[in-house]
Amino acid sequence: MLPAATDFPDKNEAFCIDIVDIIGFYVVESIRHYCYDPLDPNGNITVTIDILQRTTDGYTARVTIQNYYQYRHVDKPGWTIGWTWTKEEVIVSMSGAFATQQGNCSSLNFQDAHCCKKDPQIADLPTDASPENMTEGCCKGGLISAYAINPAKSFSSFEISVANLGANTTYFAPQNLTIMAPGPGYTCGSLQDTDPTVSPDIGGRRHVQVYRTWKSICTYSTFLANKAPACCVSLSTFYNPTITSCRLCSCGCRPTDQNATSCIREGYNLPQSDFVNSIDFVKCTDHMCPVRVHWHVKNNYVDHWRIKLTVSNYNYKKNYSDWNVLVQHPGFSQKSTAYSFNGTVLPAVGFAEEVALYWGVSYFNEELLQADEDQEGSVTTDILLEKDSKSFTFRNGWGFPRRIYFNGEDCEMPLPDTFPMLPNSSSTLKPTSNSFWLLLLLLLLTFLTFKTQISNFGSDDQ
Ligand SMILES: *[C@@H]1O[C@H](CO)[C@@H](O)[C@H](O)[C@H]1NC(C)=O
Ligand SMILES: *[C@@H]1O[C@H](CO)[C@@H](O)[C@H](O)[C@H]1NC(C)=O
Ligand SMILES: *[C@@H]1O[C@H](CO)[C@@H](O)[C@H](O)[C@H]1NC(C)=O
Ligand SMILES: *[C@@H]1O[C@H](CO)[C@@H](O)[C@H](O)[C@H]1NC(C)=O
Ligand SMILES: *[C@@H]1O[C@H](CO)[C@@H](O)[C@H](O)[C@H]1NC(C)=O
Ligand SMILES: *[C@@H]1O[C@H](CO)[C@@H](O)[C@H](O)[C@H]1NC(C)=O
Ligand SMILES: *[C@@H]1O[C@H](CO)[C@@H](O)[C@H](O)[C@H]1NC(C)=O
Ligand SMILES: *[C@@H]1O[C@H](CO)[C@@H](O)[C@H](O)[C@H]1NC(C)=O
Ligand SMILES: *[C@@H]1O[C@H](CO)[C@@H](O)[C@H](O)[C@H]1NC(C)=O
Repeated sequence: MLPAATDFPDKNEAFCIDIVDIIGFYVVESIRHYCYDPLDPNGNITVTIDILQRTTDGYTARVTIQNYYQYRHVDKPGWTIGWTWTKEEVIVSMSGAFATQQGNCSSLNFQDAHCCKKDPQIADLPTDASPENMTEGCCKGGLISAYAINPAKSFSSFEISVANLGANTTYFAPQNLTIMAPGPGYTCGSLQDTDPTVSPDIGGRRHVQVYRTWKSICTYSTFLANKAPACCVSLSTFYNPTITSCRLCSCGCRPTDQNATSCIREGYNLPQSDFVNSIDFVKCTDHMCPVRVHWHVKNNYVDHWRIKLTVSNYNYKKNYSDWNVLVQHPGFSQKSTAYSFNGTVLPAVGFAEEVALYWGVSYFNEELLQADEDQEGSVTTDILLEKDSKSFTFRNGWGFPRRIYFNGEDCEMPLPDTFPMLPNSSSTLKPTSNSFWLLLLLLLLTFLTFKTQISNFGSDDQ
């Protein structure tokens, strides 16, 4: 079992631990490296094997991979799931997915079997798979949406027909379940017997249940994924010309050796290689992050304030499809409107401050394009927030986010003592009213900030 949030004194902090699943006395079944995320304390990927039907020497089963992570999705090239059979099981046929290797199926009974390996590895079929190989909930090229973004696409499912168990009706759950989604980072507990899955029939008037159900919980750990920090945050405001850049070396440092290829300097030709997703394709910057999130406090109105949020891609070889950005800020307790992103405010998890989740609008900016020679790819939106007169202030950096995640990975925040400060004279902070002059002043200020922002963005990148 996962530890409950209440088991820990500081429920607002992330931490990692090892979980040991034990069966019986001292029989360690599996060890999972688990990282607790205070913003998504119940996130997990649940793998369910439902035995639908018994056959003469085996069974047919449906395998479902359900992503319960609120803002962590399974990106290209998609998931791969694997396990080790306990007995001499053979997968005679499969629909909705395929085993990557057939293995040795030379034994007379199973010459046409789909997979005879002791440890099959299974991947999803593409969306254009032939209809006879499809099954309900299958064939999405291994992509799975984050639960909070698209629950209807947050799972993947396929069916297998298992044989070679003889007359034995005692079925044994596969062992050592692994899931790559698509890279490493997930560890799965052992498949445990649970109540059989029940589903509605006859329009919900009858409920049918499967023969038997095994379930395993898989959890993600950034530590296991062995990822360098993936992104950083920079800040600016309309009330102070200072721009707080990403922290130096947020995602690593620039190589001092000119021959080192851990980042690509502007003007250099990109290496011709299909090897994607590597730091080697990140543009050389002071922060060295593949992704930067910029938070600009843009306007102050009587009962609203406005943010401009920009996500920039510094990777020359990666388009982030179905990207998402999570922002923790107390201001999201009030009504907010994002103009160019799709978004939602996540249900409060009790102890954490309000969290807004944003993702791209279909056919408009759902893909965060790769950088090219001239510029980084970026997506941007204005966000209008209502003010809560009791808590709203620009003092003490209140207007800045507490935490930002990109695609589920924590972004490096600048240190609070580098935040753009409120000027001592607060005349520029008068909210815009109907007064023409104030409006003009604010427009001018915004324009100036915008200009400095642009020029600074340029100088930030050499
Ligand atoms: C897995 O996620 C689901 C949905 O959030 C939750 O109900 C379940 O308790 C989680 N399982 C574990 C072991 O945390
Ligand atoms: C394949 O399996 C058959 C019978 O199951 C066995 O006789 C044969 O040696 C195996 N071949 C290889 C290459 O392992
Ligand atoms: C799809 O189905 C056909 C015929 O049923 C079969 O020959 C083929 O191997 C299947 N493809 C996959 C990827 O399962
Ligand atoms: C089924 O398998 C179990 C464990 O391998 C064994 O104890 C049992 O005798 C088998 N039953 C039959 C009918 O083969
Ligand atoms: C499962 O993994 C454990 C630890 O890696 C190993 O000791 C065990 O033999 C594996 N079980 C099977 C059936 O491969
Ligand atoms: C860097 O590359 C140049 C030419 O490619 C070579 O002459 C030089 O020795 C290299 N320097 C190091 C430190 O490897
Ligand atoms: C990213 O998208 C652009 C434009 O659609 C395309 O030209 C490029 O090949 C894509 N890059 C990758 C790595 O898929
Ligand atoms: C916003 O996201 C929801 C859920 O994924 C989706 O159904 C809807 O079509 C999206 N709206 C736009 C404009 O992309
Ligand atoms: C304005 O604030 C700065 C830094 O907080 C301080 O050093 C300076 O003395 C202040 N000036 C006035 C006129 O209060």
